[in-house]
Parts: sequence; C-alpha cells; structure tokens
Amino acid sequence: MTTTLLASDDKKTAYRDYAAPQRADGFDTVREFYRLNHMHQTHDFVLAKKADFLRFNRRRMSPWEALDFLNTLVDDSDPDIALPQIDHLIQTGEAMRANGEPEWMVLTGFIHDLGKVLCLFGEPQWAVVGDTFPTGCAYSDRVVWSEFFALNPDRQRPELQTKYGVYAPNCGLDAVQLSWGHDEYLYHMVKPYLPLEGLYMIRYHSFYAWHRENEYQHLCNAQDDAMKPWVQRFNPYDLYSKNPNRPSLAEVKPYYEDLLAKYLPATLAF
Ligand SMILES: [Fe+2]
Ligand SMILES: [Fe+2]
Repeated sequence: MTTTLLASDDKKTAYRDYAAPQRADGFDTVREFYRLNHMHQTHDFVLAKKADFLRFNRRRMSPWEALDFLNTLVDDSDPDIALPQIDHLIQTGEAMRANGEPEWMVLTGFIHDLGKVLCLFGEPQWAVVGDTFPTGCAYSDRVVWSEFFALNPDRQRPELQTKYGVYAPNCGLDAVQLSWGHDEYLYHMVKPYLPLEGLYMIRYHSFYAWHRENEYQHLCNAQDDAMKPWVQRFNPYDLYSKNPNRPSLAEVKPYYEDLLAKYLPATLAF
C-alpha cells in the first residue's frame, strides 16, 4: 500500500498524544472525556443501549442528511482534530481513493463515523465516541486512560473481572459486548450493504486495544484474525489523513453521491 496523501512517519508520532493538554485554559477535554467514558460504560449500560438504539425506530434520513448533521459536531475524544466531521470523512475517503483502495473501502472510509449522529438524539459524547473496550471481562491496562476503570461499578463485580468474564474462550468478537458508541451502531445499520472487511473496519475502528495493542486475542476467533489486517489497513487513513486544510465538498460531492447511491438505500433507519 502506498501512502500518497498520508503524513510521513515523523508526523505520525505526533498524533494521538493523550498527555497533551487540549485547551488554552489548561482544561484537558480528552482526559475528562475518558474519565466519564470509563466510569459509565458498564456491561449493563451497553446491553441497554443496544436494546434501545438497535431498534432503529427514531427516524429515517438519507446519508447526506446525516452527514449534514455531523457538520455541527466536534469530537471531544479526538486529540487530533477540531474540524467538522464531514471534512474528516471526505479526507479519509479521498486519501483511500488517491491510494487506489477498492471502491467499497472508499465508501467505508467516507461513512465510517456516520454513527456519531447518536449525538443528534441527545446522547452524551462518552456514549458515542472514543476508543472502545470489551465490557463483561477484565480490562486491559493497554486501554487508553485505563486507570479510570477504577471508577466503573463493574470493577466491584468479581464475575466480570476475570480474564474471560461472561465469555467463552475464543468466542469471537461478534459475541463480545464492546463499550457502546458510533462504531457498533453504524455496523448494525449498514450490515446488509457492505462486504465483511468493510463491516469490520466500521465496527472495530475504535478498538485500539485489539487492532493496535493486540490485546484480547483470547476472545477472538479465526474470522477475527483474518479480518484484523483490514482494520489495521483502515486505521492510518482514519488517523493521518487529518489535516487542517479543508477539502472542497462541492468538488467531491458528485463522486460520493454516486458511491452512496451504488451501495446504500436512499434512506437509512436511525
Ligand atoms: Fe470513529
Ligand atoms: Fe474517524
């Protein structure tokens, strides 16, 4: 894989620096985000959110209507970007397109954060974005800001703190309840329309403890192992295509309109 639009290796090390204060007044937005996320994302919380949101009974929107909404959102969990989400999605898609990635992957890159419309329904950011982690079993200390798991009520439930917790060895990630957010939500929404590789990219792109740190392998099955390289192939586009230069939406819109029409229905259930 070439990396035409991607940053050099030197630049890469500057991304995802969670130790750097995020605001001029010294308040660390990202640290506070993960304090809330790790405190509130319990196993039961995940099950309740899935039972609610995976009914997809809130409204129907075209993909473009959903993208328009994302224009109003800035992601508190992301230390690298303060751009409207639509720009991030265009940059991700365009970097893939420039590298000659398959069409379904360009589409996947273009929509991968569409699930952040959960914020439209009043969900707090800690229930929408950020790195994901398995609930219902022991936490890995390779999860970002893992010290905040001390605040999670599941810490007091010994049955949820063993290596396997509620899961069987190598049960497969499909059976694992990851912390709830935009990844899982969008995965279920577009499941009928994309190849498995693209669905893995969407569902697990925030599961850094797995695709970057190689943790939680004891929960993975053969399919997860086969799909992991695709999630890893996706990741640099999500990270390193971020730059403050705004691509022109008008210029690229016809291409993505065609792509959306080719793979997705005119409206999606949210
Ligand atoms: Fe994301
Ligand atoms: Fe993203």
